[in-house]
Amino acid sequence: MTRWLPVCLVPALLLLISAGTGLAGHKKLKCDECHITHRSDAAAFQAGETWSTRHVTDGLPTFKLYSSPSFDALNTDISQPDGTSKLCLGCHDGSYPSITGKLRFGGSDLSRTHPVSFTYDSSLAARVSRNRLRDPNTTLSGLGGTIAKDMLDERSKLQCTSCHDMHGKGTIPKMLRFRFGQGTNDPLCRVCHNM
Ligand code: HEC
Ligand code: HEC
Ligand code: HEC
Ligand code: HEC
Repeated sequence: MTRWLPVCLVPALLLLISAGTGLAGHKKLKCDECHITHRSDAAAFQAGETWSTRHVTDGLPTFKLYSSPSFDALNTDISQPDGTSKLCLGCHDGSYPSITGKLRFGGSDLSRTHPVSFTYDSSLAARVSRNRLRDPNTTLSGLGGTIAKDMLDERSKLQCTSCHDMHGKGTIPKMLRFRFGQGTNDPLCRVCHNM
C-alpha cells in the first residue's frame, strides 16, 4: 500500500490539506522525514525503500526483543524492528534532538513493551489458546475494514502503526487509533484481544 507514495506525494499533499488531515503530535515534522521523495532521498528511492532512511543511517541499537512463555509468535518471523517500526525508532530511540524522557521509546529495550514486527495472521490467531486472539482477516476493526486491512502493514505485520495513527484527526491522545486507559474494557486492546 505504501509503494505508490513517492509518486503520489504531491497530489496526496493537496488532498491531505483539503481534507484537513493533521499530523497530531508530529506537527513540526516535514513529510520527507518519513516519506521518500526521490529529491529528498534519491539513494533510498533508488534502492526501493518504503520509508525514509534519513534517521536510521546513524545506526539503530540492537534491541532486546519481547519474549514470554505464552507468546506464540516467538519462533516465527519476529525480528529487529522493520517497516514502520524501524522508521519510528529511527527517531524514538533517542537520536532525534527533542526525543527525550518518555518519548524516547524503549531505548534499546523493546522487551517491556508490546511486541512489534511479526506476522499476525489467521494461523497465529488459531494457535493462541481459547480463542483469545481474534482472526485479523475476518474480524472488523471498527475503522472500516478488517484488522488486517486497517491495522497491519502490507505484509500483515503488526507494527507501531497498528496502534498509532500518523494521520489521524488528533482527537485521541498519543496519536492512538482507539482510546486507551480503561482497564480490561480497553477499546484499543480489545480490537485484537478477546479478553
Ligand atoms: C512521522 C512520520 C510521518 C510523517 C511526518 C508524515 N507521514 Fe504520511 N504516513 C506515515 C506512515 C507511517 C503512513 C502509513 C500509515 C499506516 O500504516 O497506517 C503514512 C501514510 C500516508 C499516506 C497514505 C494515506 C494514509 O493516511 O494512510 C499519505 C497520502 C501520506 N502519509 C502523506 C503524508 C504527507 C503529505 C505528509 C506531510 C504533510 C506526511 N505524510 C507526513 C508517516 C508519516
Ligand atoms: C523524524 C523523527 C520522528 C519519527 C520518524 C517519528 N517520530 Fe514520533 N515524535 C517525534 C518528535 C520530535 C515528537 C515530539 C513532538 C512534540 O512534542 O513536539 C514525537 C512524538 C510522538 C508521540 C507523542 C505524541 C503525543 O501527542 O503525545 C508519539 C505517540 C509518537 N511520536 C509516535 C511515533 C510513531 C508510532 C512513529 C512511527 C510511525 C513516529 N513517532 C515516528 C519525532 C519522530
Ligand atoms: C499495542 C499497541 C501499541 C503498539 C504496538 C505501540 N504502541 Fe506506542 N503507545 C501505545 C499506548 C496505549 C500508549 C499510551 C500509553 C500511556 O498513555 O500510558 C503509547 C504511547 C507511546 C508514546 C508516547 C509516550 C508518552 O508517554 O508520551 C510513544 C512515543 C510511542 N507510544 C511510540 C511507539 C513506538 C515507537 C512503537 C513501535 C516500536 C509503539 N509505540 C508501538 C500503544 C502502542
Ligand atoms: C493490532 C492488534 C493488537 C492490538 C491493538 C493489541 N494487541 Fe496485544 N498482541 C497482538 C498479537 C497478534 C500478539 C501476539 C500473541 C501471541 O503470539 O501470543 C499480542 C501480544 C500481546 C501480549 C503478549 C502476550 C504473551 O503471551 O506474552 C500482551 C501482554 C499484549 N498483547 C497486550 C496488549 C494490550 C495491553 C493492548 C492494548 C494496549 C494490546 N495488546 C493491543 C495484537 C494486538
